[in-house]
Amino acid sequence: MRRRAAFCARIAALALAGVLFGTSEAPAREGEAFVVHGGPVKDVTVAGGVLATAGFDYSIVLWERESGRVRARLLAHRGPVYAVAADPARDLLVSASDDGALGVWSLKEGALLVRTPGHEGKSVAVALSPSGRFAATAGWDGRVIVWAVPSGEPVVRLEEPLVRFTGVAFVDEERLAAADQAGALRLWRWRERRLQWRSEGNGFPITRLLARGGRLWSGAIDGTIRAWRAADGGELLRLLGQSEPVLSLAASADGGRLASGTAAGTIYVWDAREQRAERVLRAPGGPVWALALDAEGRFLYTGHGDGALRVWDLETGLQIAGPRETYVSATDRVAAAFGAPKLFNTCRLCHSLTPDGENKSGPTFYGLFGRRVGGLEGYSYSEALKAADFVWTEETVAELFTLGPDRYLPGTKMPVQKVNDREELERLVRWLAEVTASLEAGANAQAED
Ligand code: HEC
Repeated sequence: MRRRAAFCARIAALALAGVLFGTSEAPAREGEAFVVHGGPVKDVTVAGGVLATAGFDYSIVLWERESGRVRARLLAHRGPVYAVAADPARDLLVSASDDGALGVWSLKEGALLVRTPGHEGKSVAVALSPSGRFAATAGWDGRVIVWAVPSGEPVVRLEEPLVRFTGVAFVDEERLAAADQAGALRLWRWRERRLQWRSEGNGFPITRLLARGGRLWSGAIDGTIRAWRAADGGELLRLLGQSEPVLSLAASADGGRLASGTAAGTIYVWDAREQRAERVLRAPGGPVWALALDAEGRFLYTGHGDGALRVWDLETGLQIAGPRETYVSATDRVAAAFGAPKLFNTCRLCHSLTPDGENKSGPTFYGLFGRRVGGLEGYSYSEALKAADFVWTEETVAELFTLGPDRYLPGTKMPVQKVNDREELERLVRWLAEVTASLEAGANAQAED
């Protein structure tokens, strides 16, 4: 039985070496401009010379705006990063994450200044006040928190139990607006914690909220993009024509041009004054989770489900940078070529099968079996994994998901997930052991040739 497994592994090794190292046309992830996230790009911001993205892969990337090369990859959040905002004049970037903390970073240093816990559960949006002295975050825990920056001290908590906040925007230094999952908006004089108005929700979650020149703009799951008067919450107008859910929304500095992105990979560019769509762009790369327009509204930056950033010139409507096709990672190619069990679709959101790890949030499975827990050189593990002491085998990996990571390795930054279907779990673990053994054998064979 063992011998047969080894034989199969050997055959697979040769084929896999081709998929991974040999015949493939696809460029290496690090080598290609504007591709680096090991999962969907959840937000993007441009300000001055700064271009920054937030990733499902727990990282923030600072890009060289012209070349698309990575200037720094910022790691400190313990979950997916959903939003970033930057103030180059004050050398600041702030971030909101699934871990509920506010991250404050120095742009120049590419380094964390502070990471302060605040929300109980995910925080999905962040905004900076016009002066750059305050940040606000919106959480699913019913809180909007205003923080002093760069100290990261919470200053004011606005609480609405049972509400999931999904968007936040400063109208000016004193007035703060937030959107929620029921489609309602609220506006406070935040220093006095005084609610000025609340709009009725239509039941459809608002996914994005922006403020421009005394107006609020919201994008929602029902495909509507609406403008609201900040003074009293009156609805001013709707942009009609997009029917798919709005996943992302951006505006030029004067609010004259807007862009919205959808799950189908379509991007709408709007003339807000004429209230009409100027262009509809069809992009590769899957859902458009993230959008940013430069101040003049000429260049559009789009972040996609395939982990890539793309750049468009709106004068011509042409894509000028980033991959022209949907990026398919080596891990996805291996999974497709070697019939990965269904359960692997979950793991591959965060784990790679290749030596380079593909910038995923979790450590690569390459070399997993026989490796000490927390033992991958260069990966930034939680204290929980650093302190644990055992070796990964088919049995221990199976136990991890029978008990659940939170009980097997309390304090881990891998999210809670239990697998109750014993057979499915065993199928996954066996497949992982075979594929990783094959890849390692393939790499060795390649090295010998
Ligand atoms: C949302 C992201 C995410 C998903 C989904 C996920 N993991 Fe993880 N995994 C992580 C992170 C992050 C770590 C590092 C944990 C730490 O340092 O606390 C990790 C660590 C591990 C480790 C320990 C590795 C080592 O080097 O010690 C194993 C084994 C593992 N994951 C297996 C799996 C399997 C199998 C699946 C699919 C059933 C899976 N993970 C799904 C994020 C994820």
